[in-house]
Amino acid sequence: MILPVILSGGSGSRLWPVSREHYPKQFQRLNSAQHSLLQEAALRLEGVEGALPPLIVCNEAHRFLVAEQLHSLGVSSARIMLEPFGRNTAPALALAALAASESDPTSLLLVMPADHVIERRAAFLAAIEQGRELAEEGQLVTFGIQPASPHTGYGYIRRGEMLGTGYRVDAFVEKPDRDRAQAYLDSGDYLWNSGIFLFSAERYLEELKAQAPDIHSACLAAYAGRREDLDFLRVDGEAFGACRSESIDYAVMEKTHRAAVVPMDPGWSDIGAWDAIFALKSDPAACGNAVQGDVLLHDTHDSLIHSQSRLVATVGVQDLVVVETEDAVLVAHRSRAQETKHIVEALKASG
Ligand code: GDD
Ligand code: MG
Repeated sequence: MILPVILSGGSGSRLWPVSREHYPKQFQRLNSAQHSLLQEAALRLEGVEGALPPLIVCNEAHRFLVAEQLHSLGVSSARIMLEPFGRNTAPALALAALAASESDPTSLLLVMPADHVIERRAAFLAAIEQGRELAEEGQLVTFGIQPASPHTGYGYIRRGEMLGTGYRVDAFVEKPDRDRAQAYLDSGDYLWNSGIFLFSAERYLEELKAQAPDIHSACLAAYAGRREDLDFLRVDGEAFGACRSESIDYAVMEKTHRAAVVPMDPGWSDIGAWDAIFALKSDPAACGNAVQGDVLLHDTHDSLIHSQSRLVATVGVQDLVVVETEDAVLVAHRSRAQETKHIVEALKASG
């Protein structure tokens, strides 16, 4: 049995000013005109054979957004687990594994971030099928993407010898610096970690207990103090507050000796910052620009121009990101789109 778990607790600060604390990127229609990224994730998972309705793990503040977005898709049987505050993905997945263990500790969790675009669903579903047996045998299965650049925002996986339908993970390095990322890319031995995982609930909990016992025990306590109503499952705030904040990548994947990787090529992208949207939407027939909304461009090249409430016009520029919303406008060089998070930090600091 597979329980899809959609991780939907991130804040998406590199996609400001469209992504906001109360309305982060996963709830926005950044890829398609019809569906938000969260809705796209839920639809994608419907194709997984034998999958239960998904479990969404998200922040308490977004509960109605999540419920409403799933409801409008007709996904009414999803469960929604609420965190009082984000503690990153290792604890979020511990809560999901504890919830799954109640009915069946051997059930497989299919971990799906809510901020991805996958263009070829059939290739994605085939890779999941390929990973299933490895996960049933007790491996922590990741899905690897052929790296296209020395991106420093991803995990890098050194592919080892063949193991069943995939490969042994010889090394897992989360977010290396630029030099190491370049060396990994040049070596040809590494894949990017897609951030999508498949493992049994009991294996994850066992591994978390071994690698990060403090996170494991804090999550046990938080889950033991849970309250459930018809729509939501809330964990105990005080116990969860005592938990360290860490991602599964640092807490477990870098340390475990029982990980396997299944390579896949489903047209995957992590919608981390505006340059990712540019890469998806840039149109060679329109001077390489990616445009959304009411825009007028003259002699403008390789730029992303996004307007939500007014006409935006550009003349004689290239490699820019211009994002207009009702109350804020971002203008950035496209190569520095990642640094948008500094604006959000500065806004927070200034209250
Ligand atoms: N519920 C919950 N709680 N979800 C969270 C939390 C949290 O505290 N923090 C992050 N998430 C969700 C995000 O919304 C996103 O959907 C997913 O977990 C991954 O978090 P990111 O913060 O986007 O991670 P990342 O992109 O920096 O890195 C991960 O993904 C890369 C590929 O996209 C890692 O797994 C990398 O190794 C990987 O390459
Ligand atoms: Mg991400």
